[in-house]
Amino acid sequence: LGATRPRISVVGTGYLGATHAAAMAEMGFDVMGVDSDPAKVAALSEGIVPFFEPGLPELIRTHVASGRLHFTTDIVEATAFADVHFICVGTPQARGSNAANLSYVEEATRSVARNLTHDGIIVGKSTVPVGTGARLRSIVAGIVPAGISTELIWNPEFLREGKAVDDTLTPDRIVLGGTTALSEAVMREVYAAPIAIGTPVILCDLPTAELVKVSANAFLATKISFINAIAEVCEAAGADVGVLADALGHDIRIGRQFLNAGLGFGGGCLPKDIRALIHRAGELGATKAASLLQQVDEINMSQRQLVINMAIEACGGSVLNRRIGVLGAAFKPLTDDVRDSPALNVAAALHLRGAQVVIYDPEASSTAQRMFPTLTYADSVEEAATNSDVILVLTEWEEFNSIDAAALREIVALPVIIDARNCLDAAHWRAAGWRFTGLGVAPVA
Ligand code: UGA
Repeated sequence: LGATRPRISVVGTGYLGATHAAAMAEMGFDVMGVDSDPAKVAALSEGIVPFFEPGLPELIRTHVASGRLHFTTDIVEATAFADVHFICVGTPQARGSNAANLSYVEEATRSVARNLTHDGIIVGKSTVPVGTGARLRSIVAGIVPAGISTELIWNPEFLREGKAVDDTLTPDRIVLGGTTALSEAVMREVYAAPIAIGTPVILCDLPTAELVKVSANAFLATKISFINAIAEVCEAAGADVGVLADALGHDIRIGRQFLNAGLGFGGGCLPKDIRALIHRAGELGATKAASLLQQVDEINMSQRQLVINMAIEACGGSVLNRRIGVLGAAFKPLTDDVRDSPALNVAAALHLRGAQVVIYDPEASSTAQRMFPTLTYADSVEEAATNSDVILVLTEWEEFNSIDAAALREIVALPVIIDARNCLDAAHWRAAGWRFTGLGVAPVA
């Protein structure tokens, strides 16, 4: 190890692992992705990505064809093949608790350690509660075959869904926790391409690396709940949160990103990561972080209820038998991911109250349908809007900006729209005769 170009294995081929494996191949390495799901491995081996991520299918096809990228279900084969083993499996919220479920990370690490045939480095990439790496290190030390030397380090990932390929090829920073001189040298070789274009490398201990990741997500979540809290004040005071956010954003200490008021955050990361941090901070007796983030979570969840209440009010106090057109199901645009999607949460709550909810999403209808089969899905904005009493915009897909408000008015029962992502041009809709409401702006009489 260290003498020849390292070969790479990537354990877990979800959003993180599939993207990381493809990016490593793009950077010139021989890569083997491992997953226990044979259907996923078969699909990826043919360049088919089982989820929507712009640019990823092309990258995977290129490197499956170039021979640098392989997928297997066989952890023994992958471990024997590689020198650097990335752990990219999920850490979902545990059932009935705020804690993270670490069983997949633990099992993946054990499988690699147990099957090592030569010296290698195990690199944790999954998002884990602080202290996990240290625990995994002692597990690894107990099971690694005699005569083989291995290290376990942490290298958290910061990719966003929808921008995963770019984020992986050109990250903002590379955090390496718990390296020795040897593993640092190997990782600098692995990340030679981004380092060559100036990506900063931060060397730190294991717990700091683990915490950088969860703190980054906690900070982003806090920004969103902050602006949603201010949006409430704006609405009560007759101010406009969008203009306010633009003005705040000019201060480079604040920055404009993640200050979009609306339905709040969802997805497979932010919600479960702040809850895991609340839980872990509590275990560590760090009560300030726990209580701050508890508020962030509560404010975020209250946005969903706020939008549900706005829909009920728009329907005159009850949604029973009212037809509601929902635009957006994904937790954000440019993904078909509906994990903890605020949009589907709102849609399902209104359905439960007796509304006829018809949902349109440009990419996420089939994933949404698998999760909420009892809801109705449409193939177009028009189909979702037909005969509706109110339209709710719950995910800010670009396509919704080009809706012809005048034409849509002709097919609805009532021209009422709630823009829960503040993404549409209110003036355009009002000019076409719609009753248009956003969040964090005083309603127009
Ligand atoms: C997030 C982080 O942004 C990544 O850096 C991180 O690597 C990733 O989690 C992870 O831990 O794997 P992602 O879950 O893809 O990425 O989504 P974001 O782009 O962060 O959006 C999260 C949610 O916040 C979405 O529901 C979005 O609609 C919402 N949001 C975002 C707002 O409500 N307002 C904003 O101003 C921005």
